[in-house]
Amino acid sequence: MQTLDCIMGRQSIRRFRDRPVEREVLDRILEAGMAGPSCINARDWYFVAVTDHEVLVRMADANGVPARCLKHAPLGILVCGDLERAFPPARDYWVIDCSIACQNMVLAARDLGVGSVWLGTWPQMERVKAQRDLLHLPSHLVPHSILAMGYPAGDLDRERPQDFEEDKVLFV
Ligand SMILES: Cc1cc2nc3c(=O)[nH]c(=O)nc-3n(C[C@H](O)[C@H](O)[C@H](O)COP(=O)(O)O)c2cc1C
Repeated sequence: MQTLDCIMGRQSIRRFRDRPVEREVLDRILEAGMAGPSCINARDWYFVAVTDHEVLVRMADANGVPARCLKHAPLGILVCGDLERAFPPARDYWVIDCSIACQNMVLAARDLGVGSVWLGTWPQMERVKAQRDLLHLPSHLVPHSILAMGYPAGDLDRERPQDFEEDKVLFV
């Protein structure tokens, strides 16, 4: 798939077919996440790939109503920052590094025919704590976002992207 078609055609998918995401497809998606740039190449991310339905339901509850679609997804990827690996003079770059990994993964998923929606976790600290407790993660791992994924129940592509807003750009 052409890169720009993938970027322009992506949309959030919140309804999924009852079909698992194959392990080799999941591996490709994770590989795309880990292919992103990171500050000083710290690679300060950690991924928890969840297919257990009961765990997905509990993760959805821990993230509140906006994450309810995760209850019906065959796969959720919790992306965490790894503070032990983050750039010591400016650790907050972990947030950017994880965001890039997330975007790489939603685009890779789209390319592979898998739908996804990004579910915000950090900086809502009650969600961060709830996810960390639920998955028994050590304190240096900071839950950043959950990507709910699966083969889409409807259309994978949006009909026509209309996102360009010239008034959001200063041309100098
Ligand atoms: C940081 C972030 C957090 C988000 N959190 C949620 C969420 O909790 N629940 C949800 O349904 N969608 C969530 N979204 C998806 C947005 O609602 C969606 O990207 C936006 O409405 C634009 O739609 P599109 O992705 O189809 O272009 C989130 C997206 C981002 C980038």
